[in-house]
Amino acid sequence: MYHSKIAGLGYYVPENIVTNDDLSKKIDTNDEWIQERTGIQERRHIVKGDGNTTTSMGVKAAKIAIERSGVAKEDIDFIVFATLSPDYYFPGPGVLVQRDLGLNTVGALDIRNQCSGFVYALSIADQYIKTGMYKNILIIGSEVHSTGLDMTTRGRGVSVIFGDGAGAAIISREEDSNKGILSTHLHSEGQYAEELIVKAPGMGGRWVTDIIADNDPNDESYFPYMNGQFVFKNAVVRFSEVIMEGLKASNLDVSDINMLIPHQANLRISQFIQQKFKLTDDQVYNNIQKYGNTTAASIPIALTEAWEQGKIKSGDLVVLAAFGSGFTWGSVVIRW
Ligand code: UT7
Repeated sequence: MYHSKIAGLGYYVPENIVTNDDLSKKIDTNDEWIQERTGIQERRHIVKGDGNTTTSMGVKAAKIAIERSGVAKEDIDFIVFATLSPDYYFPGPGVLVQRDLGLNTVGALDIRNQCSGFVYALSIADQYIKTGMYKNILIIGSEVHSTGLDMTTRGRGVSVIFGDGAGAAIISREEDSNKGILSTHLHSEGQYAEELIVKAPGMGGRWVTDIIADNDPNDESYFPYMNGQFVFKNAVVRFSEVIMEGLKASNLDVSDINMLIPHQANLRISQFIQQKFKLTDDQVYNNIQKYGNTTAASIPIALTEAWEQGKIKSGDLVVLAAFGSGFTWGSVVIRW
């Protein structure tokens, strides 16, 4: 059996910074509430005409990851793209990346696991590398939330949280079996699917029967709904469980963690986990303050920043953990 490693990382965020004060001009909210409840100070939103889409931001992040990996474009064997905000209803952004990067006619898989998307993508890539089927896989997590949020006071419980951005990684075969991805752990609990959801457009007849006829701009089912407190309570439990599950799989303990990158859902969630596991500030990386919650992009953006800042070194134990809509959650344990 082969092993896989993260061979290169990159991220891209739109230039346009939206502060809490900017939001409070449109929505009945304020900087104090947002910072106290979420830790967020600002986020990035694309601007009409700036060329940014979920795919184009993913491509920008991917170019950096590819260059840093040293892997030639021709040697990329597969694409995995995680997003809840694709450019088109279909086809998904994976094929657009194949086109825009001029890759060989390799397979392109789109996955829909929201905040856990990047962890799911890493797990998928890891399996293909382990079996020997592929040697180099491009994985991307990218989101444009800003164009789909309810920017009125009605949506304030959700709209202040989410931001736009993209992160990417090249996953490659690792010869040293003690290094690279040690294990991945994925979970879901569809019982709570409606607790964090965008209901429409949906063609199954469950919420809308006709995409065009039912396209009422006042229909809230087109905006994200989140039962915030319920999601929060589940998140802290599942984050803890899945981190422990990952550590135990390799007979490791919390004290072995050099760097924990939690999905950037809410600074209070990260701080809860940090305190529970008695980790220092140097052992947990957070950047939700600058970018908000970028869903599938949050882990690769944070991982790239931590790596760029020299906070992750060869031999370190790095743990990634995510929780989100589905509910879905998961972890990845890596020996860097
Ligand atoms: O990434 C996927 C996973 N997502 C998460 O893990 C998110 C988990 N949940 C959360 O992060 C938090 O629940 C939120 C940040 C979404 C909300 O924080 P909260 O402390 O749970 O607040 P709440 O929803 O209980 O709302 C408290 C009050 C309410 O007013 P009343 O009913 O007490 O009068 C809300 O209407 O705060 C009000 N409120 C706001 N006020 C100002 C809600 N949103 C805002 C806002 N600005 N943006």
